[in-house]
Amino acid sequence: MSGTDPVRLDHHTLERYETAWLGVAVVLTILLFVGVLASLISGTYPLLGSGTGHAHDAAIVKGHVDPAQLAATPFAKPGLVMDDSGKPVMNAQGTLDAYLVAGGFTYQPSVLRVPAGVPVTLHVTATDVVHGFQLTGTNVNVEILPGHVASLTVTFRHPGEQHIICNEYCGVGHHNMITRFIVEAPTETP
Ligand code: CUA
Repeated sequence: MSGTDPVRLDHHTLERYETAWLGVAVVLTILLFVGVLASLISGTYPLLGSGTGHAHDAAIVKGHVDPAQLAATPFAKPGLVMDDSGKPVMNAQGTLDAYLVAGGFTYQPSVLRVPAGVPVTLHVTATDVVHGFQLTGTNVNVEILPGHVASLTVTFRHPGEQHIICNEYCGVGHHNMITRFIVEAPTETP
């Protein structure tokens, strides 16, 4: 050992580094394993809602719904949830609820009128196959699966028209799958 080459690491130093990095790899492996296991056990899917607490939500359980039984759910009347006088109903979270159904190369309703500046919780399900649901020009983008309800809350800031398109290939009519959101300026209270 001359001591003239301080950068050179000896055998024992190298072994220490090797052991440390092996430890890091083991920790990462365990974290990955636990994460995968936890998501499998909890059955976590992104953006699945558990209904809105309305009494008629009985048939929507933890973000699941029977595609053959939509008539018993709010999906039977696609669009904003309205009261008897035709006014949108504000829920306990201070948002409006809208139900949309994807299937047969359409969305229902084909036109949804929403007020600007009010959070709207969109509940979307599919009747047949997997569809996409993307609000063009935004990061609102979810996958719609039969039997599942995707719930997402969106605040439309500016009056105007926006489009929902299907961005997952679902069959011959895929390219026609589009719906319009007409964002209306808040009405003045008299
Ligand atoms: Cu529905 Cu593509």
